[in-house]
Amino acid sequence: MKIKKGILVVSFGTSHEDTREKTIGAIEAAVCVAHPQIPVYFAWTSGVIRAKILKKTGEKICGTKEALAQMKADGITHVYIQATHIINGIEYELLKEDTCRCKDFFSAISFGKPLLSSTEDMKELTRIIAGEFSDILASGGAALVLMGHGTEHHSNTGYAALDYMFRETGHPDIHVGTVEAYPSPAQIIPLLDPSRIKTVHLAPLMTVAGDHAKNDMAGNAEDSWASQFARAGYHVVCHLKGLGEYPAVRRLFLRHLDEILD
Ligand code: CO
Repeated sequence: MKIKKGILVVSFGTSHEDTREKTIGAIEAAVCVAHPQIPVYFAWTSGVIRAKILKKTGEKICGTKEALAQMKADGITHVYIQATHIINGIEYELLKEDTCRCKDFFSAISFGKPLLSSTEDMKELTRIIAGEFSDILASGGAALVLMGHGTEHHSNTGYAALDYMFRETGHPDIHVGTVEAYPSPAQIIPLLDPSRIKTVHLAPLMTVAGDHAKNDMAGNAEDSWASQFARAGYHVVCHLKGLGEYPAVRRLFLRHLDEILD
């Protein structure tokens, strides 16, 4: 049988057009540029977000099963799925389950790992983040607190490992928290030394700088991270840049895809 490869890039999705282009859109484009000889398909897992965009702009974005059905219709035999997820959590497991239901469509389906799937991946990300914020942290009077999504899934422990790695690699002023799970700002604030740290920089540790970054992190509500750190006495600066905006992060996703394409 003739082999026909196809790549499927799967994201959770975002309804924020500005960050979409710079993050998910940039990753999708990078995959197309890196693999001009293989057809590339796209899917978003969030039905809510897809419905919202369809209603607002008329744009139809595929869910995972729709994209796989299209790939089958196009004669693809070998599917290479690269998710733009950060950790191997609930969303990633659901993606695998959904895909399993379509496994009879194809000769083979392979999965590229999420961004942070190994110690090496984590080291790479600590280097990327530390490099991005090196000027800001050089003064010694500032801390950077990253907002991960967080999950009930046991993979939530990865955020703590990343936090540990920042300290271990000489970046004691970079902290990692999560918006939906442990640790939260309540656990991070006591770790900051107010006699030295005057400014807290906040940045998302998520592929997109969407709803969570704009509202839960940088919003004006009393329980936003910006408000919580301001109440603790810090000058707060928010950086609305999703990880997908970092070229080096896109390269890390591409590397994970290469691991399965070879
Ligand atoms: Co969420």
